[in-house]
Formats: sequence, structure tokens, C-alpha cells
Amino acid sequence: MKYGVPAQKFIYSRGMAGKIPRLPIDFESLQSKARKVMKPEAYAYVAGGAGRGTTMVANQEAFETYQLKASMMKAVQEVDLRVNVLGAEFITPLLTAPIGALDLVHPQGDKAVARACNHLNIPMVFSCRASHSMEVCSEELGHTPRWFQLYWSKSDELVESFVSRAQRTGCSAIVVTLDTTSLGWRPRDLNQGYLPFLRGMGLAQYSSDPVFENILRQRMLKKNNDPKPSVTFKTLSNVFGLCRNYPGGLWNNLRSGRALAAVKTFIDIYMRPELRWTDVQRLRKMTTLPIVLKGIQTVDDANKAFDFGADGIVVSNHGGRQIDGGTGALKCLDVITQNIEGRGTVLFDSGIRGGADVIKALALGADAVLIGRPWVYGLALDGQRGVEAVLGYFLAELELQLSLMGVKSVQELDRSIFSDRVE
Ligand code: FNR
Repeated sequence: MKYGVPAQKFIYSRGMAGKIPRLPIDFESLQSKARKVMKPEAYAYVAGGAGRGTTMVANQEAFETYQLKASMMKAVQEVDLRVNVLGAEFITPLLTAPIGALDLVHPQGDKAVARACNHLNIPMVFSCRASHSMEVCSEELGHTPRWFQLYWSKSDELVESFVSRAQRTGCSAIVVTLDTTSLGWRPRDLNQGYLPFLRGMGLAQYSSDPVFENILRQRMLKKNNDPKPSVTFKTLSNVFGLCRNYPGGLWNNLRSGRALAAVKTFIDIYMRPELRWTDVQRLRKMTTLPIVLKGIQTVDDANKAFDFGADGIVVSNHGGRQIDGGTGALKCLDVITQNIEGRGTVLFDSGIRGGADVIKALALGADAVLIGRPWVYGLALDGQRGVEAVLGYFLAELELQLSLMGVKSVQELDRSIFSDRVE
């Protein structure tokens, strides 16, 4: 066994010397420890959801409705975790979900994540709102697979530029997130009046892009007739912070007004609410890379995704951050996979907190899963090492669980592993 038993032995033998793991193993302890070291606005941004948070709760509850069957005398010693996704073999079924504004969580942000992914050979999905550009992260990833997640901008030229950069940096798929045509109503962020992008965070894909740079230059040349907001000490200190966070250097940004103009430009063009299914066909013409649509929750949308040329979908509700009162994502996965058999690749995220959750998603037909918040807390607590630890726990638990259940390979997983009460 590669992950499970060695990890257990390591932890228990260190325990004999009075040392406990730097990062808690279970999600609840991990989250509460991370909360203690995170700034309140960072914790709110990561932990928060839309509205009253009922979709986040539904995501967790959905996992409880499917129960795994225990059958004895079958334990296996070697478990094969390999999966095939979009024609490529991944050594485990885990990918990191795209998470924006990681500079709010740790100064090394996406760079630390890329290093951790490289160490564990876990594919990374670059966020469109990353803290470090795809070029920087690609350097850190070595040969580890990577995908690029796109938020479709109002500027098609910018979209084309992102896509061609993704191709050049070795990305093997474009993931278009469909569920964020505007930000969800997120009370925890609203209570603090805090959005990381306005502070110059999560803008690295934009600030490193020649098309964005060009749009910004044009806008800075135009006379600005926007009404000037009243200036308080707090405004000045926030603008100062923004100029420090945005590339180009604090004084240069303050003098030129570039950082402020860049944030305004970003806000004006970063989303395209009028995105339609036919835009998938336009994207098809821009790239030969596989296209994956993220945020699918119904059979109808899953069918449309494939009808309009997508190669894969991510069944996801964005971790309950977009729509309140929604259905638990795992239930959506169950219904979708029963109705779209064989149409294309299906990935899943939203609410995965441990190895058993991964097994349930794979058994319901996901080809692989994206892990989100758990490793973000690892990042907050211990940078690259923290991300490695959390993803390592996932792999260890997944492997051990499968071994105890007598499952030799994740490819074998199907609905027969659920207990009879649910079948
Ligand atoms: C996200 N998610 C997200 N998705 C995306 O397509 N692009 C992005 O930039 C982000 N940013 C982001 C920031 C934060 C702080 C969170 C928590 C989530 C959604 C993410 O990819 C994934 O769908 C969810 O994280 C899955 O839910 P859980 O498992 O984290 O609860």
C-alpha cells in the first residue's frame, strides 16, 4: 500500500515520541484550527456560502444519504487508484479545484499549491482569479498535468488570449465555469464589505496578460469622468493596500494610478452574464483542447453541454457559494449519471471532505473529483506543506477505505457498493 499504511505508521510512530500531526486530520478540526490563523475576511471568503448557507449544508447532507456496504473477508493489499480522464491517465482520482484569490490565504498562494501538486502528482486546475499566473505555476508543476479554468470575459479577445496562454503553458483542458455570471449573495463577505479582487488580489492571470494590459492602457488614456468617491483615512489605507498587492510596485502603482485602474477594468469586464450555449461552439473554434463545463446540476444542462460540443462536465454547485436553497451536489451527480450514460467525462465537486466521500462520488459515476476547501485550510496553516498534508490525508484514507472494502481498483466502483437500504 502506497499511501494509507505508511501514513498511519508515520503518524503513530511520531506519536510515540510525543509529536502529533501539524495539521489536524479531520475536516472540522482542520477548519477550526485554520480559522484561528486566518484574517477574519479571509476565513469569511473561504468558508462562506450564498444566502443562509443551505446549499452548503445540503452538500454535506447528500453524502449521508448514501451509505457504503461492509462485506467481510475481502480486504486487498494493493489498491489501484489510477483513472482515465479525457484520454489521459492520472495516478489518483483527485484534482485540486480552481480556487481564486489564494493570496488572501497565504503569500505563496497558487505557487505553493503548484509545488504541492507537483510533489504528489495531483493535477492542478488553475483558477482564472489566481494569485500567480499560469506561467509561474506551470514552472512549479514540472510534468504534473494542469487545466485552466476560464471565467468568460466581456472581451472575447481576452478569452482568446487566456486560452492560447493555457495551451502554451501545457494545460490539457479548458474548464469554463458557468455558475458565476455574477457573484452570489454572500452575507459573510457582505457583512465585512470585503471582496479580495477590489484589494488587488486574485488578478494575476489578468495583470500578466497582454490583451488585458492593452485594454487597461486604452482606458487610462481616456478622460475619467466617473464621480469621485469621498475619501476617508480608510479609503486611503485600502488604496495603499491595493497598490501593494497589485504587480508593478507600490510607489509606481500609487503614482500612475495603474492598480486602481486595473481593478476597475477587471470589474467592468471579468464576467459575461449573457453567456449562452452557442458560446461553447465559439470556444470550440478557438482551441483544440478538451472543453469541460463546470457548474452543471441538471440532466437537461448536462445534455446541452454535450450537444454543444463539450468533452466533459463538472457536476458542482461551486461549494454552495452561488445559489442558496439548492440541491446537494452529490444528488445531482446521481441523477445526471443515470441519465447521460456514456456521453462524456463527468467530474464532481462540492462538499468532499474525506476518502469515503470520494468513493461515493466515483461510485455514482464521476471519473474523478475536485477537492476544494480542505486543502485551502491546509494552505492557510502551513503553505505548500499544508496543502501536501491535506491531500496526502485524502489519498491515505481513500486507499485504506478501499482496501477495507475489498475494492482492488477505483475503476471497479459502481452503485453496488452502496448498502441495500439505498439501492
Ligand atoms: C471557489 N470556487 C471557484 N471555482 C471556479 O471555477 N473558479 C474560482 O476561481 C473559484 N474560486 C473559489 C474560491 C473559494 C474560496 C472557494 C471555496 C471556491 C469553487 C471551487 O472550484 C469548487 O467548486 C468548490 O470549492 C467545491 O466545494 P467545496 O468542496 O470546497 O465545498
